[in-house]
Amino acid sequence: MLPWAANPAPWGHRVPNLPFSFQTIVEMSNEAIWVVDADRNIAYVNERAAEIAGYRPEEVVGKSVLTFFFPDDVPAMEARLARRESGEAERYQHRLRRRDGSAVWALISARPRVDETGRYDGSVVIVTDITELARTESALRDSEFWLRESQRVARLGSYVFDIPTDRWQSSAVLDEVFGIGPDYPRNAEGWLAIVHPDDRQRMAAYLRELLAARHRFDREYRVTRVVDGAERWVHGLGELTLDGDGRPVRLFGTIQDITEHRLREQERRHLEARLLNAQKLESLGVLAGGIAHEFNNLLTSILGNADLALHDLPPGSTAIESIRAVEAASQRAAEISRQMLAYSGRGRFVVEPVVLSRLVREMGRMIELAVSKRTRLRMALAEDLPRTDADPDQLRQVVMNLVVNAAEAVADDEGLVTVSTGETTCDAAHPLRDHFGEDVAPGRYVVLEVADTGQGIDAESLPRVFDPFFTTKFTGRGLGLPAVAGIVRGHRGFVQVESEPGRGTTFRILLPALPTATPMAAPSAAPNDRGRV
Ligand SMILES: Nc1ncnc2c1ncn2[C@@H]1O[C@H](COP(=O)(O)OP(=O)(O)OP(=O)(O)O)[C@@H](O)[C@H]1O
Ligand SMILES: [Mg+2]
Repeated sequence: MLPWAANPAPWGHRVPNLPFSFQTIVEMSNEAIWVVDADRNIAYVNERAAEIAGYRPEEVVGKSVLTFFFPDDVPAMEARLARRESGEAERYQHRLRRRDGSAVWALISARPRVDETGRYDGSVVIVTDITELARTESALRDSEFWLRESQRVARLGSYVFDIPTDRWQSSAVLDEVFGIGPDYPRNAEGWLAIVHPDDRQRMAAYLRELLAARHRFDREYRVTRVVDGAERWVHGLGELTLDGDGRPVRLFGTIQDITEHRLREQERRHLEARLLNAQKLESLGVLAGGIAHEFNNLLTSILGNADLALHDLPPGSTAIESIRAVEAASQRAAEISRQMLAYSGRGRFVVEPVVLSRLVREMGRMIELAVSKRTRLRMALAEDLPRTDADPDQLRQVVMNLVVNAAEAVADDEGLVTVSTGETTCDAAHPLRDHFGEDVAPGRYVVLEVADTGQGIDAESLPRVFDPFFTTKFTGRGLGLPAVAGIVRGHRGFVQVESEPGRGTTFRILLPALPTATPMAAPSAAPNDRGRV
């Protein structure tokens, strides 16, 4: 029996023309309605309530409300009931236990009735099945989680740019990538201020062009993070939305931090280039060495026979001149073969501690002869350099090849060729790379530098100047620098080249220094200026 009268309306006033009795309204309600008595037993349920619980209505009446909760949930429910019995209405979400043991997610709305004396005599509870809603909500939460986490892991931010108002909004990840806070001016100008100064003009032009041509945004560019000034590479993507008249109104897209990716890519290209270079050196070295070797045998035979023929010829024979020409040509051929051998790294090595400055000084006359009269020659040879273990003959070849190139580069112009020696140290604080992209091994080096104010080397030729037979000269053979590279490699040294077309070129050779017993003098000179005049 219901604890209060059913009809007319319990609060007393009449409802005109009501087609249903209040009882019918309760029974017909599509929400589950439960009435719980003061003993926590079910006094009444409508059809919908019984259906949700998986019972027939008459089976439910008389059962304890706790029957419809899972054992784990009972203590919490008892606490709720206690509060309700003290007069508190409540609305909460909880699961209910159906007859078959399955769970129903429910929105539970309960209101107790307490009389003037404070006596509780039951409550009306309306229960809405929100299982479907909860499932959707949880799916939504899941997908939101996936989206948020993948964006975070991928460092992928999103933005939407409202074009007419010149305002953009950004996701948390984008704010993190740009290093901006909530107060940052989110307009086109604000975005351009984040773009790295070197890319700014290009990106401003790109945005203008994109809005005019209504195409996608797809560009990699650099940004300077606002918060710490760090430089990052990003990849921006975006799609335009057009209004009815075809005017762009919105740009929606993503911006991904691809700095690590770029660095890895750079490193990969660098490694590839090194590998290619090593392979090239290896195969060309074998080839050049092989040819030079055969060549030398032939030349020995040619020169020997020419010599014999000269002795056998009667004085005044017209053949003498021809034989001398054969000798001269053979000498030139021997020179080529020597260069090829040097390049291959298979040349003879007679190594001894060499004082580089002395070696260069002793070559003075040869160097002067190599440089044309109109070209000034400057020697700046450092004293007290550590020695280096080297083959003096081969070092002389290096100096000559570089000086000849320098002289040829200034040609007849009134240029300057500078030959200098010095020393340098490579360590963690001063990392160095050579011309071929190899890291210079840490340690002390003696340095030979040949600089000229000649025509310079253009960016396209620069990576190729050490390739055998690469030449830009009419009569060049393209063997001078390959020989230098081979010899320096053979000495565990390194080569660096700097050149500015039209301004000049500097070749720098680093050879490992032998340990010195005496400390270096001249503390007044900065290390890099050592040996310069
Ligand atoms: N100091 C320099 N200034 C400008 N270009 C240079 C310089 N040194 C070398 N080069 C460029 O590098 C190329 C290769 O030099 P390399 O010495 O190997 O050959 P080459 O001088 O052309 O011929 P050779 O075998 O007679 O030395 C040159 O043709 C030139 O283009
Ligand atoms: Mg040369």
